[in-house]
Amino acid sequence: MSAPTASADDGTSTTTPTLELRDVNKSFGAVQVLHGVSMKVYPGQVTALVGDNGAGKSTLIKSIAGIHAIDAGEFLFEGRPVTVAGPREAAALGIEVVYQDLALCDNLDVVQNMFLGRERRNGILLDEASMEQAARDTLTKLSVRTLKSVRQLVSSLSGGQRQTVAIAKAVLWESKLVILDEPTAALGVAQTRQVLDLVRRLADTGHAVVFISHNMVDVFEVADRVAALYLGRMAADVPISQVDRSQVIELITAGRSGELGLQSAVAEVGA
Ligand SMILES: Nc1ncnc2c1ncn2[C@@H]1O[C@H](COP(=O)(O)OP(=O)(O)O)[C@@H](O)[C@H]1O
Ligand SMILES: [Mg+2]
Repeated sequence: MSAPTASADDGTSTTTPTLELRDVNKSFGAVQVLHGVSMKVYPGQVTALVGDNGAGKSTLIKSIAGIHAIDAGEFLFEGRPVTVAGPREAAALGIEVVYQDLALCDNLDVVQNMFLGRERRNGILLDEASMEQAARDTLTKLSVRTLKSVRQLVSSLSGGQRQTVAIAKAVLWESKLVILDEPTAALGVAQTRQVLDLVRRLADTGHAVVFISHNMVDVFEVADRVAALYLGRMAADVPISQVDRSQVIELITAGRSGELGLQSAVAEVGA
């Protein structure tokens, strides 16, 4: 069994991670949720973030997105130590999160949703032409061909199309790190296919992507790396080529798999 280090052949040994966390702790009151979490997320790669319910995935991404302040540890963005004091600061760095509930407005069209709260103006008027063109360009760049019109109301879109709009919205803002919270959880087979293709293209256009998923088929289809949280501890953060599906399931359910993962003393904390 190989050690949990990045191998020289996956291109990460010489690349600066877009995001690196070192020894991050986070508590809510007396309850410690994240324990010494370290993680590296690389440009051009999809990192699958996996873990059982309650493992700390949402807390971790909200800490990255500036919604929760971390209590201790280091946060490096493109190699520089940063403090992310709120969602605006995270967005200014190029961090965008697509949350599970998507937060799209049904009564607005695709362009209006993509620019919601960040509208372009021409004098006192909204610059509709420029926003519409930018929305189209972003969708084209991501090879999205499933939308009939960017002037369609979001209420008329399928679940997969909504997910596509939410992802395109994240990409519009020169984002460098895009975090997707279970983007395929509510989708059927064909729509899941479309969203996985889009997740892949996000990485292929140079973004660092974090993809939260419970679905091992999706994880193995789209991820370059897998980061497994177990009871708030990072059990492994490795190239996907170093693990198989049963090992990832063991990491999720027991915090370790053979040589890989947490030491037994730590794993037994949750036993
Ligand atoms: N705001 C909060 N206050 C107190 N405890 C929280 C809060 N948010 C999450 N937790 C706790 O942190 C743990 C991890 O939750 P979460 O990050 O949502 O896990 P996951 O997303 O992996 O299911 C859970 O035990 C949860 O109850
Ligand atoms: Mg969650």
